[in-house]
Amino acid sequence: MQKEYVRSLFDNIALRYDLLNHLLSGGVDLYWRRAAIQTLTSQQPKSILDVATGTADFALAAMRLHPEEVIGVDISEQMLDIGRKKIARRQLAKTIQLQSGEAENLTFETGRFDAAIVAFGARNFEDLDKGLSEMNRVLRKDGKIVVLEFSRPQIFPMKQFYFFYFKHILPMVGRLISKDKEAYQYLPDTVMRFPEGKDFILRLRNAGFASVEEQRLTFGIATIYTGVKS
Ligand SMILES: C[S@@+](CC[C@H](N)C(=O)[O-])C[C@H]1O[C@@H](n2cnc3c(N)ncnc32)[C@H](O)[C@@H]1O
Repeated sequence: MQKEYVRSLFDNIALRYDLLNHLLSGGVDLYWRRAAIQTLTSQQPKSILDVATGTADFALAAMRLHPEEVIGVDISEQMLDIGRKKIARRQLAKTIQLQSGEAENLTFETGRFDAAIVAFGARNFEDLDKGLSEMNRVLRKDGKIVVLEFSRPQIFPMKQFYFFYFKHILPMVGRLISKDKEAYQYLPDTVMRFPEGKDFILRLRNAGFASVEEQRLTFGIATIYTGVKS
């Protein structure tokens, strides 16, 4: 999807983004982020990059690992503004810093981070392969990537329920609350198109990651992918 389009879409819904996230997922998004962060527990990364950080929920969840620094980057200044306020309220500004930045052109030096993470952001990258390669580049050797992303349940009746919810209920509720006609139509459209399972694993391998694994959550509505920079 075109970067300018995605930026203005998230700028427009920034104020309602957190509310809608929790409402439309029934709060389960918080559990998904925690489960994704847990995959880094044994590695205990000191320096973490959160790509497409948005309002910083994934960066904040990463604080459970007690890192020395978390840097979040995003193309939407309005999303970052909300994130900065949340960080200030929790008095975490010394540890978490948010910056304007594109996944496809990260401005950090090679090997800078112990872990690179992205939640519900990879689906929006204009160039997925470039974004994943950049995340690989800024990781140190043996550094870990964690990607949390929507996926599509395969089994009856969750599959049918999910498709109905995603195609009809979610865009309607999203439209009413965000007052944005397109944003919550865009969400199901991108989820339907996004590579999942072995297709996404292949993209991670092509970007330079080894030991790639997937963990499906909540009937396969979301999936955690992990990999190691070889
Ligand atoms: C659905 S939100 C996810 C935010 C956050 N990670 C979370 O867990 O709630 C997707 C975010 O990706 C950002 N984004 C989209 N394309 C991007 C890109 N190419 N580089 C950096 N951020 C991007 C958007 O601005 C938006 O804030």
